[in-house]
Amino acid sequence: VNSVDHQLIELHELAAKLYHHILVNTQAGATALSYLKQRGLSAEIINDFGIGFAPPQRLLLPFFHERQTDADLLQQTGLFSQNQQGELYDRFVDRIMFPIKNGSGQVIAFSGRLLSTENTDMPKYLNSPETKLFNKRRVLFNFDIARKAARREQKLILFEGFMDVIAAYRAGVTNGIASMGTSLTEEQVSMIERVTSNLDVCYDGDQAGQNATKRALEMIQGQTTNVQLEVVSMPAGIDPDEYLQQYGAEKFKQWLMDARQTPVAFSLRHLKQGLNLENEADQINYLNAALQIIAGVPNEIEQDVYVNQLVSEFKLDKANLTSQLRELTRQRD
Ligand code: CTP
Ligand code: MN
Ligand code: MN
Ligand code: MN
Ligand code: MN
Repeated sequence: VNSVDHQLIELHELAAKLYHHILVNTQAGATALSYLKQRGLSAEIINDFGIGFAPPQRLLLPFFHERQTDADLLQQTGLFSQNQQGELYDRFVDRIMFPIKNGSGQVIAFSGRLLSTENTDMPKYLNSPETKLFNKRRVLFNFDIARKAARREQKLILFEGFMDVIAAYRAGVTNGIASMGTSLTEEQVSMIERVTSNLDVCYDGDQAGQNATKRALEMIQGQTTNVQLEVVSMPAGIDPDEYLQQYGAEKFKQWLMDARQTPVAFSLRHLKQGLNLENEADQINYLNAALQIIAGVPNEIEQDVYVNQLVSEFKLDKANLTSQLRELTRQRD
Protein backbone atom coordinates (compact mmCIF):
# COMPACT_ATOMS: atom_id res chain seq x y z
CA VAL A 1 0.00 0.00 0.00
CA ASN A 2 1.52 3.30 -1.09
CA SER A 3 1.39 6.38 1.08
CA VAL A 4 -1.54 8.08 -0.68
CA ASP A 5 -3.63 4.92 -0.24
CA HIS A 6 -2.51 4.80 3.34
CA GLN A 7 -3.63 8.38 3.94
CA LEU A 8 -6.94 7.78 2.18
CA ILE A 9 -7.59 4.78 4.41
CA GLU A 10 -6.75 6.86 7.46
CA LEU A 11 -9.30 9.50 6.43
CA HIS A 12 -11.93 6.80 5.97
CA GLU A 13 -11.17 5.32 9.38
CA LEU A 14 -11.49 8.78 10.94
CA ALA A 15 -14.75 9.47 9.12
CA ALA A 16 -16.13 6.10 10.22
CA LYS A 17 -15.26 6.87 13.84
CA LEU A 18 -16.91 10.26 13.62
CA TYR A 19 -20.11 8.93 12.00
CA HIS A 20 -20.23 6.16 14.61
CA HIS A 21 -19.78 8.65 17.43
CA ILE A 22 -22.62 10.81 16.05
CA LEU A 23 -24.88 7.74 15.92
CA VAL A 24 -24.24 6.28 19.34
CA ASN A 25 -23.36 9.26 21.51
CA THR A 26 -25.23 12.29 20.25
CA GLN A 27 -28.76 13.60 20.06
CA ALA A 28 -28.28 14.07 16.30
CA GLY A 29 -28.06 10.29 15.96
CA ALA A 30 -31.01 9.39 18.17
CA THR A 31 -33.60 8.83 15.42
CA ALA A 32 -31.19 6.77 13.33
CA LEU A 33 -30.21 4.73 16.38
CA SER A 34 -33.81 3.89 17.19
CA TYR A 35 -34.40 2.99 13.54
CA LEU A 36 -31.52 0.51 13.73
CA LYS A 37 -32.70 -0.90 17.07
CA GLN A 38 -36.13 -1.36 15.54
CA ARG A 39 -34.49 -3.37 12.76
CA GLY A 40 -32.97 -5.62 15.40
CA LEU A 41 -29.43 -4.24 15.45
CA SER A 42 -28.02 -4.27 18.96
CA ALA A 43 -25.34 -1.91 20.26
CA GLU A 44 -22.84 -4.74 19.86
CA ILE A 45 -23.68 -5.29 16.20
CA ILE A 46 -23.63 -1.55 15.51
CA ASN A 47 -20.20 -1.54 17.07
CA ASP A 48 -18.95 -4.67 15.27
CA PHE A 49 -19.84 -3.22 11.86
CA GLY A 50 -18.85 0.33 12.82
CA ILE A 51 -22.22 1.66 11.71
CA GLY A 52 -22.69 5.42 11.96
CA PHE A 53 -24.85 8.36 11.00
CA ALA A 54 -24.20 11.31 8.72
CA PRO A 55 -26.42 14.08 10.10
CA PRO A 56 -28.39 16.50 7.90
CA GLN A 57 -25.89 19.26 8.70
CA ARG A 58 -22.54 19.04 7.00
CA LEU A 59 -20.05 17.32 9.24
CA LEU A 60 -16.92 15.97 7.59
CA LEU A 61 -15.69 19.08 5.80
CA PRO A 62 -15.32 21.26 8.93
CA PHE A 63 -13.88 18.26 10.78
CA PHE A 64 -11.12 17.70 8.24
CA HIS A 65 -10.52 21.43 7.76
CA GLU A 66 -9.85 21.71 11.47
CA ARG A 67 -7.27 18.96 11.08
CA GLN A 68 -5.82 20.87 8.12
CA THR A 69 -6.15 17.91 5.81
CA ASP A 70 -4.95 18.57 2.28
CA ALA A 71 -7.84 19.57 -0.01
CA ASP A 72 -6.60 17.43 -2.90
CA LEU A 73 -6.52 14.40 -0.65
CA LEU A 74 -10.03 15.17 0.61
CA GLN A 75 -11.25 15.26 -2.95
CA GLN A 76 -9.74 11.85 -3.63
CA THR A 77 -11.64 10.21 -0.76
CA GLY A 78 -14.96 10.32 -2.60
CA LEU A 79 -16.50 11.53 0.66
CA PHE A 80 -17.17 14.94 -0.88
CA SER A 81 -18.92 16.27 -3.91
CA GLN A 82 -17.95 19.51 -5.64
CA ASN A 83 -20.21 22.42 -6.54
CA GLN A 84 -19.83 24.58 -9.65
CA GLN A 85 -17.48 26.91 -7.82
CA GLY A 86 -15.24 23.92 -7.16
CA GLU A 87 -16.03 23.90 -3.43
CA LEU A 88 -16.31 20.57 -1.67
CA TYR A 89 -19.32 19.54 0.37
CA ASP A 90 -20.23 16.36 2.26
CA ARG A 91 -21.50 13.66 -0.10
CA PHE A 92 -23.37 11.83 2.63
CA VAL A 93 -26.03 13.72 4.58
CA ASP A 94 -28.92 12.40 6.63
CA ARG A 95 -27.97 8.77 5.99
CA ILE A 96 -27.09 5.77 8.11
CA MET A 97 -23.48 5.01 7.29
CA PHE A 98 -22.17 1.50 6.69
CA PRO A 99 -18.39 1.27 6.36
CA ILE A 100 -17.20 -0.86 3.44
CA LYS A 101 -13.93 -2.64 4.17
CA ASN A 102 -11.23 -4.22 2.05
CA GLY A 103 -10.03 -7.78 2.60
CA SER A 104 -7.79 -6.61 5.44
CA GLY A 105 -10.66 -4.97 7.28
CA GLN A 106 -9.69 -1.38 6.48
CA VAL A 107 -12.45 1.11 5.66
CA ILE A 108 -12.25 2.09 1.97
CA ALA A 109 -15.75 3.37 1.23
CA PHE A 110 -19.24 3.83 2.66
CA SER A 111 -22.79 2.99 1.80
CA GLY A 112 -25.36 5.37 3.22
CA ARG A 113 -28.99 4.41 3.75
CA LEU A 114 -31.92 6.79 3.96
CA LEU A 115 -33.99 6.38 7.13
CA SER A 116 -37.12 6.50 5.06
CA THR A 117 -37.66 5.89 1.38
CA GLU A 118 -41.11 7.49 1.38
CA ASN A 119 -41.69 10.80 -0.42
CA THR A 120 -38.25 10.95 -1.96
CA ASP A 121 -36.62 10.33 -5.33
CA MET A 122 -33.25 9.86 -3.71
CA PRO A 123 -31.75 6.37 -3.87
CA LYS A 124 -32.27 4.18 -0.79
CA TYR A 125 -28.57 3.43 -0.71
CA LEU A 126 -25.84 5.80 -1.84
CA ASN A 127 -22.34 4.36 -2.19
CA SER A 128 -18.98 6.07 -2.36
CA PRO A 129 -17.96 6.72 -5.96
CA GLU A 130 -15.13 4.74 -7.50
CA THR A 131 -11.88 5.96 -6.00
CA LYS A 132 -8.28 4.87 -5.81
CA LEU A 133 -9.32 2.66 -2.88
CA PHE A 134 -12.78 1.59 -3.93
CA ASN A 135 -13.45 -0.41 -7.06
CA LYS A 136 -16.82 -1.97 -6.41
CA ARG A 137 -16.13 -4.78 -8.85
CA ARG A 138 -13.43 -5.96 -6.43
CA VAL A 139 -15.23 -5.54 -3.13
CA LEU A 140 -17.41 -7.96 -1.21
CA PHE A 141 -19.10 -6.75 1.95
CA ASN A 142 -17.83 -8.58 5.08
CA PHE A 143 -15.13 -10.41 3.08
CA ASP A 144 -12.50 -9.78 5.78
CA ILE A 145 -14.61 -11.60 8.38
CA ALA A 146 -16.23 -14.17 6.10
CA ARG A 147 -13.01 -15.52 4.66
CA LYS A 148 -11.83 -16.47 8.13
CA ALA A 149 -15.20 -18.01 8.99
CA ALA A 150 -15.09 -19.94 5.71
CA ARG A 151 -12.07 -21.90 6.90
CA ARG A 152 -14.27 -23.34 9.64
CA GLU A 153 -17.56 -23.54 7.72
CA GLN A 154 -15.92 -24.69 4.47
CA LYS A 155 -18.15 -22.34 2.52
CA LEU A 156 -19.25 -18.80 1.84
CA ILE A 157 -22.84 -17.62 1.56
CA LEU A 158 -23.59 -14.95 -1.02
CA PHE A 159 -26.45 -12.62 -0.12
CA GLU A 160 -28.04 -9.91 -2.22
CA GLY A 161 -27.82 -7.04 0.25
CA PHE A 162 -25.38 -6.19 2.99
CA MET A 163 -28.27 -5.91 5.47
CA ASP A 164 -28.78 -9.63 4.83
CA VAL A 165 -25.10 -10.26 5.60
CA ILE A 166 -25.55 -8.35 8.85
CA ALA A 167 -28.73 -10.33 9.62
CA ALA A 168 -26.87 -13.61 9.13
CA TYR A 169 -24.05 -12.37 11.36
CA ARG A 170 -26.62 -11.53 14.06
CA ALA A 171 -27.77 -15.15 13.88
CA GLY A 172 -24.18 -16.33 14.27
CA VAL A 173 -23.62 -17.01 10.57
CA THR A 174 -20.48 -14.99 9.87
CA ASN A 175 -19.45 -16.40 6.48
CA GLY A 176 -21.87 -14.19 4.52
CA ILE A 177 -20.81 -11.78 1.78
CA ALA A 178 -22.58 -9.44 -0.64
CA SER A 179 -21.62 -7.41 -3.66
CA MET A 180 -22.18 -3.68 -3.39
CA GLY A 181 -25.39 -3.26 -5.38
CA THR A 182 -23.96 -4.58 -8.63
CA SER A 183 -24.39 -7.95 -10.25
CA LEU A 184 -21.67 -10.38 -9.33
CA THR A 185 -18.41 -9.69 -11.17
CA GLU A 186 -15.58 -11.92 -12.42
CA GLU A 187 -13.26 -10.31 -9.91
CA GLN A 188 -15.59 -11.22 -7.05
CA VAL A 189 -15.88 -14.81 -8.26
CA SER A 190 -12.07 -15.01 -8.26
CA MET A 191 -11.99 -13.69 -4.69
CA ILE A 192 -14.52 -16.33 -3.65
CA GLU A 193 -12.65 -19.07 -5.47
CA ARG A 194 -9.45 -18.28 -3.60
CA VAL A 195 -11.20 -18.78 -0.25
CA THR A 196 -13.49 -21.75 -0.71
CA SER A 197 -14.81 -24.30 -3.17
CA ASN A 198 -18.37 -24.11 -1.82
CA LEU A 199 -20.77 -21.23 -2.32
CA ASP A 200 -24.41 -20.97 -1.33
CA VAL A 201 -26.37 -18.29 -3.18
CA CYS A 202 -29.13 -16.84 -1.00
CA TYR A 203 -30.74 -13.86 -2.72
CA ASP A 204 -34.08 -12.20 -1.99
CA GLY A 205 -37.28 -14.19 -2.41
CA ASP A 206 -38.82 -11.69 -4.82
CA GLN A 207 -38.80 -11.98 -8.61
CA ALA A 208 -35.79 -9.65 -8.93
CA GLY A 209 -33.84 -11.78 -6.47
CA GLN A 210 -34.73 -15.01 -8.23
CA ASN A 211 -33.76 -13.60 -11.62
CA ALA A 212 -30.50 -12.32 -10.15
CA THR A 213 -29.85 -15.82 -8.77
CA LYS A 214 -30.21 -17.29 -12.24
CA ARG A 215 -27.77 -14.74 -13.65
CA ALA A 216 -25.27 -15.28 -10.82
CA LEU A 217 -25.33 -19.07 -11.31
CA GLU A 218 -24.74 -18.74 -15.04
CA MET A 219 -22.00 -16.21 -14.46
CA ILE A 220 -20.14 -18.37 -11.94
CA GLN A 221 -20.58 -21.58 -13.93
CA GLY A 222 -19.26 -19.79 -17.01
CA GLN A 223 -16.13 -18.74 -15.17
CA THR A 224 -15.12 -21.71 -13.04
CA THR A 225 -15.84 -25.33 -12.32
CA ASN A 226 -14.00 -25.12 -8.99
CA VAL A 227 -16.93 -23.79 -6.98
CA GLN A 228 -19.70 -26.16 -5.92
CA LEU A 229 -22.91 -24.15 -5.95
CA GLU A 230 -26.12 -24.47 -4.01
CA VAL A 231 -29.10 -22.17 -3.97
CA VAL A 232 -31.07 -21.23 -0.88
CA SER A 233 -34.41 -19.83 -1.97
CA MET A 234 -36.17 -17.57 0.49
CA PRO A 235 -39.94 -17.81 0.95
CA ALA A 236 -41.74 -15.77 -1.72
CA GLY A 237 -41.35 -12.04 -1.33
CA ILE A 238 -39.05 -11.86 1.68
CA ASP A 239 -35.32 -11.39 2.06
CA PRO A 240 -33.04 -13.08 4.61
CA ASP A 241 -33.07 -10.05 6.90
CA GLU A 242 -36.87 -10.05 6.95
CA TYR A 243 -36.88 -13.80 7.54
CA LEU A 244 -34.66 -13.42 10.60
CA GLN A 245 -36.80 -10.57 11.86
CA GLN A 246 -40.00 -12.64 11.52
CA TYR A 247 -38.86 -16.10 12.60
CA GLY A 248 -35.74 -15.68 14.73
CA ALA A 249 -32.18 -16.97 14.60
CA GLU A 250 -32.85 -20.70 15.02
CA LYS A 251 -35.38 -20.91 12.20
CA PHE A 252 -33.13 -18.71 10.09
CA LYS A 253 -30.18 -21.08 10.44
CA GLN A 254 -32.44 -24.06 9.83
CA TRP A 255 -33.72 -22.47 6.65
CA LEU A 256 -30.19 -21.88 5.38
CA MET A 257 -29.51 -25.59 5.87
CA ASP A 258 -32.81 -27.10 4.74
CA ALA A 259 -33.80 -24.91 1.79
CA ARG A 260 -30.64 -25.66 -0.18
CA GLN A 261 -31.14 -26.85 -3.74
CA THR A 262 -28.85 -27.81 -6.58
CA PRO A 263 -28.57 -25.23 -9.36
CA VAL A 264 -30.59 -27.55 -11.61
CA ALA A 265 -33.42 -27.95 -9.10
CA PHE A 266 -33.45 -24.17 -8.74
CA SER A 267 -33.46 -23.65 -12.51
CA LEU A 268 -36.36 -26.07 -12.97
CA ARG A 269 -38.38 -24.21 -10.36
CA HIS A 270 -37.41 -20.85 -11.84
CA LEU A 271 -38.54 -22.06 -15.26
CA LYS A 272 -42.05 -22.67 -13.93
CA GLN A 273 -42.59 -19.08 -12.94
CA GLY A 274 -45.05 -17.39 -15.23
CA LEU A 275 -46.21 -20.69 -16.74
CA ASN A 276 -49.59 -22.25 -16.19
CA LEU A 277 -48.84 -25.94 -15.94
CA GLU A 278 -52.53 -26.84 -16.20
CA ASN A 279 -52.27 -25.59 -19.75
CA GLU A 280 -50.95 -28.22 -22.17
CA ALA A 281 -48.92 -25.82 -24.31
CA ASP A 282 -47.18 -24.39 -21.22
CA GLN A 283 -46.64 -27.90 -19.91
CA ILE A 284 -45.00 -29.06 -23.13
CA ASN A 285 -42.80 -25.95 -23.24
CA TYR A 286 -41.80 -26.55 -19.66
CA LEU A 287 -40.93 -30.20 -20.26
CA ASN A 288 -38.84 -29.43 -23.32
CA ALA A 289 -36.95 -26.67 -21.54
CA ALA A 290 -36.54 -28.84 -18.46
CA LEU A 291 -35.04 -31.65 -20.51
CA GLN A 292 -32.62 -29.17 -22.07
CA ILE A 293 -31.45 -28.18 -18.60
CA ILE A 294 -31.18 -31.78 -17.45
CA ALA A 295 -29.24 -32.69 -20.60
CA GLY A 296 -26.57 -30.26 -19.44
CA VAL A 297 -25.98 -32.22 -16.23
CA PRO A 298 -22.79 -34.26 -16.63
CA ASN A 299 -23.66 -36.88 -14.01
CA GLU A 300 -26.17 -39.52 -15.17
CA ILE A 301 -27.33 -40.35 -11.66
CA GLU A 302 -28.17 -36.71 -11.07
CA GLN A 303 -29.95 -36.66 -14.45
CA ASP A 304 -31.99 -39.65 -13.34
CA VAL A 305 -33.09 -37.89 -10.16
CA TYR A 306 -34.61 -35.03 -12.15
CA VAL A 307 -36.13 -37.30 -14.78
CA ASN A 308 -37.85 -39.30 -12.05
CA GLN A 309 -39.26 -36.06 -10.65
CA LEU A 310 -40.72 -35.10 -14.03
CA VAL A 311 -42.13 -38.60 -14.51
CA SER A 312 -44.02 -38.53 -11.25
CA GLU A 313 -44.97 -34.85 -11.39
CA PHE A 314 -46.53 -35.08 -14.85
CA LYS A 315 -47.42 -38.80 -14.91
CA LEU A 316 -45.22 -39.45 -17.91
CA ASP A 317 -43.67 -42.50 -19.45
CA LYS A 318 -40.09 -42.73 -18.26
CA ALA A 319 -38.83 -44.53 -21.37
CA ASN A 320 -40.08 -41.66 -23.57
CA LEU A 321 -38.42 -39.01 -21.43
CA THR A 322 -35.19 -40.94 -21.27
CA SER A 323 -34.93 -41.41 -25.01
CA GLN A 324 -35.71 -37.73 -25.55
CA LEU A 325 -33.01 -36.85 -23.03
CA ARG A 326 -30.44 -39.08 -24.78
CA GLU A 327 -31.26 -37.33 -28.05
CA LEU A 328 -30.71 -33.88 -26.47
CA THR A 329 -27.48 -35.04 -24.81
CA ARG A 330 -26.19 -36.31 -28.18
CA GLN A 331 -26.97 -32.94 -29.79
CA ARG A 332 -24.94 -31.18 -27.11
CA ASP A 333 -21.84 -33.35 -27.51
N1 CTP B 1 -28.98 -1.19 -3.59
C1 CTP B 1 -28.45 0.01 -4.00
N2 CTP B 1 -29.28 1.08 -4.23
C2 CTP B 1 -30.61 0.97 -4.04
C3 CTP B 1 -31.17 -0.25 -3.64
C4 CTP B 1 -30.32 -1.31 -3.41
O1 CTP B 1 -27.25 0.13 -4.16
N3 CTP B 1 -31.39 2.04 -4.25
C5 CTP B 1 -28.08 -2.30 -3.35
C6 CTP B 1 -27.58 -2.30 -1.93
O2 CTP B 1 -26.20 -2.65 -1.95
C7 CTP B 1 -28.40 -3.37 -1.29
C8 CTP B 1 -28.69 -4.34 -2.42
O3 CTP B 1 -28.70 -3.54 -3.59
O4 CTP B 1 -27.66 -3.98 -0.25
C9 CTP B 1 -29.97 -5.12 -2.29
O5 CTP B 1 -31.08 -4.28 -2.47
P1 CTP B 1 -32.41 -4.41 -1.61
O6 CTP B 1 -32.83 -5.82 -1.55
O7 CTP B 1 -33.39 -3.42 -2.14
O8 CTP B 1 -31.92 -3.84 -0.22
P2 CTP B 1 -31.93 -4.52 1.22
O9 CTP B 1 -30.61 -5.16 1.41
O10 CTP B 1 -33.14 -5.37 1.40
O11 CTP B 1 -32.00 -3.21 2.12
P3 CTP B 1 -33.07 -2.83 3.26
O12 CTP B 1 -33.39 -4.07 4.00
O13 CTP B 1 -32.35 -1.81 4.06
O14 CTP B 1 -34.25 -2.25 2.53
MN1 MN C 1 -18.55 -8.39 19.29
MN1 MN D 1 -33.77 -7.07 -3.34
MN1 MN E 1 -33.51 -7.12 0.14
MN1 MN F 1 -33.97 -6.00 3.28
